[in-house]
Amino acid sequence: METVQKLSSDQLIQLEDRHGAHNYHPLPVVLERGEGVYVWDVEGKQYYDFLSAYSAVNQGHCHPRIVDAMMEQSKTLTLTSRAFHNNVLGVYEKYVTDYFGFDKVLPMNTGAEAVETAIKLCRKWAYEVKGIEENKAKIIVCENNFHGRTTTIISFSNDPDARKNFGPYTGGFVKIPYNDIDALKAALAEDNVAGFLVEPIQGEAGVYVPNDGYLAEAKALCESNGALFIADEVQTGIARTGRLLAVDHENVKPDVLILGKAISGGAYPVSAVLANDAIMNVIKPGQHGSTFGGNPVAAKVAMAALDVVKDEKLSERAEELGQLFRAEVQKLVEKYDLLKLVRGKGLLNAVVINDSEDSSTAWDICMKLRDNGMLAKPTHGNIIRFAPPLVMTEEQLLDCVSIIDKTLADF
Ligand SMILES: Cc1ncc(COP(=O)(O)O)c(C=O)c1O
Repeated sequence: METVQKLSSDQLIQLEDRHGAHNYHPLPVVLERGEGVYVWDVEGKQYYDFLSAYSAVNQGHCHPRIVDAMMEQSKTLTLTSRAFHNNVLGVYEKYVTDYFGFDKVLPMNTGAEAVETAIKLCRKWAYEVKGIEENKAKIIVCENNFHGRTTTIISFSNDPDARKNFGPYTGGFVKIPYNDIDALKAALAEDNVAGFLVEPIQGEAGVYVPNDGYLAEAKALCESNGALFIADEVQTGIARTGRLLAVDHENVKPDVLILGKAISGGAYPVSAVLANDAIMNVIKPGQHGSTFGGNPVAAKVAMAALDVVKDEKLSERAEELGQLFRAEVQKLVEKYDLLKLVRGKGLLNAVVINDSEDSSTAWDICMKLRDNGMLAKPTHGNIIRFAPPLVMTEEQLLDCVSIIDKTLADF
């Protein structure tokens, strides 16, 4: 048998550089294996994963229960499309709606698709239930939002990289500052408002946690103005912030809930939009869908991933470890001038560096963290997000804090 020569990290990076679109700027590390909180590069070096694929791998890498569910279903039936029924979809739909407490789910694959689905659902509800004149519906969104990369979604982004030269843009969105109840009140008082789309914590923007009470007040305002409260929990959901959903911190029940990422534990692209019948029933055959949405592998993977979240008490673990992490990193903030502050909820945290937004300091620190065995990624020039898998132990977390300490000591 011909022996296949193993490619080095440098060679693999060169292949990506030469043959792949340059739509990302990854940290130079090439991973080939993952297990729990650890990943290994092609040279065999071990790292703590402190990004969890942007909070998709909450259950840890290659969780055996999730992988088994995927393998077993893959050998039986992978895809029927929605042209026919299959023996898994209904079971999953009952499971996931019971799990999150909604009447119905609309299954999709990626986070951006689920956001698009929620936008379509909100608009259709506005015309057919609320009675807004056709094509006049407005959805309120927040400045510095991140909801994905489709043409419509980037139309209401204010990130120049996400928008520039991708116009003309989709209309029908009103942007207000995040965490500003008065601005929301004023926007909701306008005519033809269909809904308010919000991240309970702005993850990509740099883990901005709104004031206590903001989400509950926003939900109440939406309710009294007849607008849908749409929570994008693609990044914050599924135990990441120390509750099953980040809105649970304020006992808020969204009218429309958007989930992605960790609903599959990172094993498979799965996303979902959940709502009650009064909203979801506006969608009729032929009006929305996706070939892969709700396929049997996705359905089995999602059920296993959500079982793991409950059985391993990942919300509770994220809450406890998050408290510990922020307390420990706060000590580093006091020790090093380079650190300005640490913020977050559960295990979705960020440190802000004492430097300008367009500096390379956060990147340079992430490079050093990598050398010291920990992988994290800046969200801006001066912000590093720390979001490890939730299956981490206290001992591992403290080990990571000492890696951060050691890394900062070198700066
Ligand atoms: C809040 C939020 N919504 C939507 C998305 C888009 O998800 P995807 O990358 O799966 O399309 C993301 C991705 O980071 C996100 O953080």
